Amino acid sequence: MLERLRNRRVVFVGDSIGRNQWESLLCMLSSAVSNKSSIYEVNGSPISKHKGFLVFKFRDYNCTVEYYRAPFLVVQSRPPAGAPNNVKTTLKLDQMDWTSVRWRDADVIVFNTGHWWNYEKTIRGGCFFQEGKQVRLEMKVESAFRRSIETVKNWVDREVNASKTHVFFRTYAPVHFRGGDWKTGGSCHLEKLPELSSSAAPSTTSLHFNIVNELLSKHSNNSVATKLDLLNVTYMTSWRKDGHSSIYYMGPNSKPAPLHRQDCSHWCLPGVPDAWNELLYAMFLRHEATQHRNSMELPKAEV
Ligand SMILES: *[C@@H]1O[C@H](CO)[C@@H](O)[C@H](O)[C@H]1NC(C)=O
Ligand SMILES: *[C@@H]1O[C@H](CO)[C@@H](O)[C@H](O)[C@H]1NC(C)=O
Ligand SMILES: *[C@@H]1O[C@H](CO)[C@@H](O)[C@H](O)[C@H]1NC(C)=O
Ligand SMILES: *[C@@H]1O[C@H](CO)[C@@H](O)[C@H](O)[C@H]1NC(C)=O
Ligand SMILES: *[C@@H]1O[C@H](CO)[C@@H](O)[C@H](O)[C@H]1NC(C)=O
Repeated sequence: MLERLRNRRVVFVGDSIGRNQWESLLCMLSSAVSNKSSIYEVNGSPISKHKGFLVFKFRDYNCTVEYYRAPFLVVQSRPPAGAPNNVKTTLKLDQMDWTSVRWRDADVIVFNTGHWWNYEKTIRGGCFFQEGKQVRLEMKVESAFRRSIETVKNWVDREVNASKTHVFFRTYAPVHFRGGDWKTGGSCHLEKLPELSSSAAPSTTSLHFNIVNELLSKHSNNSVATKLDLLNVTYMTSWRKDGHSSIYYMGPNSKPAPLHRQDCSHWCLPGVPDAWNELLYAMFLRHEATQHRNSMELPKAEV
């Protein structure tokens, strides 16, 4: 994969689950490099510290693997003048995140979003939705999410040069809080096996999956579907209740977190995101083969 990524940029854009997948790819690629000092963050930023973006370079391949934090993919910023006092920030549903100028020309872009699109992380904290200059106080999270995916779709259509950039959208990664959710005592600690019983087959009909599927998949009737590959991990991931970091997210050198603060959203590494990246690589190879075939066929067509 490193050979094929020579002189190229791979960019992950999204929330911390996207960062989880980015970190997985970094680990997988660096296992093939013997001199680990030849892999470095271009601004010297430590990986442990939270940053708006992190750019890791594989020196001998002149390739970078980058992460941009944009949990909503669209812009979140101050509300327009004159907005009511309870509006602390707004999500500009019709504007792609400001960092997009940095990664528009990357060779591979992997988007993800979903985990922040809920009431708690938006409206309850005073983050409302905005279209044009209008703050839409009554707009529901679901409609806003749909609108933001349309913005991503239009952006890809308008801004991406499909002969250079291969765009992926990774679908929603399910969480596994048994007996509650993250703030009401849900747990995944001591889950040691995947879901094995087919009668307990996990449902794939989550809101975030359905909207992305409807708007971006090849089954949908739109031009962007030809420019974008859906990295469809939702169903396969839903079986892996055993794969989360649970109480161990502070790492091996810290004490485990208390049971009521466990993490059943992010994933241990090595682990589930490695499988997403294997799928990513397979789709990348398929795309390369298609591009190659098309460019070989071009002269013939001209004749
Ligand atoms: C290194 O990669 C960058 C980004 O993909 C590219 O613009 C540049 O030309 C490459 N440098 C060399 C020496 O090939
Ligand atoms: C490993 O990479 C570092 C940083 O680029 C370099 O200084 C060092 O000489 C390399 N070591 C070997 C054995 O190539
Ligand atoms: C799109 O990318 C291809 C391949 O890198 C390049 O040859 C072409 O000039 C680009 N088109 C535009 C409009 O930038
Ligand atoms: C699909 O797109 C084509 C061409 O844009 C259009 O003619 C057709 O009516 C669309 N079908 C549906 C079901 O939307
Ligand atoms: C995603 O994968 C699941 C099974 O793994 C399948 O049922 C579903 O149709 C797929 N969706 C798309 C858009 O390919």
